[in-house]
Amino acid sequence: MKQDIQSTEDIELLVDHFYSKVMQSSALRPFFKDLNWEEHLPRMKQFWRFILLDEAGYTENVTNKHLHMPLTKELFTDWLFLFHQTVDEYFEGPKASLAKTRATLIGLGIQGKMNLLED
Ligand code: HEM
Repeated sequence: MKQDIQSTEDIELLVDHFYSKVMQSSALRPFFKDLNWEEHLPRMKQFWRFILLDEAGYTENVTNKHLHMPLTKELFTDWLFLFHQTVDEYFEGPKASLAKTRATLIGLGIQGKMNLLED
């Protein structure tokens, strides 16, 4: 039986495995390939510790970070599919569900602001 997401190590595993999937996706990889990973990965992990482990200190507006990117509905579908798949591969429980729900809601929020939900 799988465990729930409970620790910093669990967040590390989740984020690292998620990005290894993202980098195998020809549609998503271009958005990430030139990122400074030494900055991006710690921020993603801090974000998920904030959401899932109630750690204080993440204050960025995640939606705004995405508004300049040429994103589409399909890219959100791919991103969310890989994120949900990664969570389900390793974890099970209330925090695992919360991770998937929050990612979905944030994805919808970004798409709404980008007017991608209209048709
Ligand atoms: C099409 C789907 C998505 C793509 C291609 C994408 C791409 C990116 C990229 C390239 C960055 C780095 C921005 C930068 O530092 O310049 C980023 C940041 C981030 N994204 Fe996404 N994203 C997507 C969807 C989502 C969703 C659904 C979430 C929901 C959890 C999310 C959460 C974040 C967070 C937390 C950051 C870090 C913001 C920070 O620097 O503090 N992204 N995203």
